[in-house]
Amino acid sequence: MNTVSIGEGFGRVNLIGEHLDYNGGHVLPLQIKNSIICEIVENKNSESISIVSDKYKDSLIVKKLEKRNNWADFVIGSCLYFEKKFSVKINNISIYIKSSLPLGVGLSSSAAITVSTLKSLSDYFQKNLADEDLINLAFEVENDFVGVGGGVMDQFVSVLGNHYEALFLDTFNKNYELIPIFQDYQFLIIDSNTQRILSDSEFNKKKELCLNAAKKMKIQNLCAKTKIDENDIQLLSDEELNVSKHVIEENLRVVKAAQYLKDNKAEEFGKLMTESHISLSQHYRVSTDDLNKLVDLSNSFGALGSKLTGAGFGGAIVTLVKKELVEELKKYILDGYPNAKFI
Ligand code: GLA
Repeated sequence: MNTVSIGEGFGRVNLIGEHLDYNGGHVLPLQIKNSIICEIVENKNSESISIVSDKYKDSLIVKKLEKRNNWADFVIGSCLYFEKKFSVKINNISIYIKSSLPLGVGLSSSAAITVSTLKSLSDYFQKNLADEDLINLAFEVENDFVGVGGGVMDQFVSVLGNHYEALFLDTFNKNYELIPIFQDYQFLIIDSNTQRILSDSEFNKKKELCLNAAKKMKIQNLCAKTKIDENDIQLLSDEELNVSKHVIEENLRVVKAAQYLKDNKAEEFGKLMTESHISLSQHYRVSTDDLNKLVDLSNSFGALGSKLTGAGFGGAIVTLVKKELVEELKKYILDGYPNAKFI
């Protein structure tokens, strides 16, 4: 056992392929440099676990690994699932969480905190947690313990991605490929800096619509289809039809986008990003006025394309712009949207 250990979990920006990872589709996220670091220090005099975060004031004392319905659940859940997997007892430690990743902006802070805690625990107990087990465990903590029903994209890219290659992942069979990003263009993240209204229930509602639609069409998941036919239209409610349209068309877009990235076709890639945004706004209905405004501003400046990133309901957009124009674009955005923050 070590007396001090450190684990780092990176955030991500999803370039295209939104709301596909729980529908058996393809996604194309890129790991970003902002991360969450979890440091564990032995604390011999304590029977409990203390959790301190640089983002929140209160330090928590945890005697029982139970849900508290706050940010610490990701840490508590990680401890609980780690205990179960390795049959260890976790106490007499202090856990320090430090973050350079803005929370709740759609850049996957939940996966980052869980991955960093599990990595640090693995190091502390010298367990050599394999990447695949780390991904699965982090996924279970989020889905089963915390209870947010996303897919496996965030955990995957946090563990297996890097800052220079996008991770083209088939979430159905977990096959993946790393593709270098464009050299002359930058994926710039712009935070709308408004309170994100992602409630777990809104997210889960969308997921349920997708599952119901797939059930009605008698397919395993929505991405098993490549188009919606007349028959499907009769079967589905308006809402189910809308989410299905987004998911099925978005999946085709991601496959095309991955090929454009390989072929260095930035303009074509950018167009797909904007198509994705329009579909997220009009069909999946998870965009907001602020996100739409940022997308419009970026595109009217001359970005190749832009879209909201992550779940939506507020948060950030990602835009593809020539590297030499980035500073000019930032000024242009601030003129039209003074609250914007660049990440
Ligand atoms: C959230 C979830 C992800 C994914 C995105 C939407 O970030 O955690 O798994 O579903 O939304 O693409």
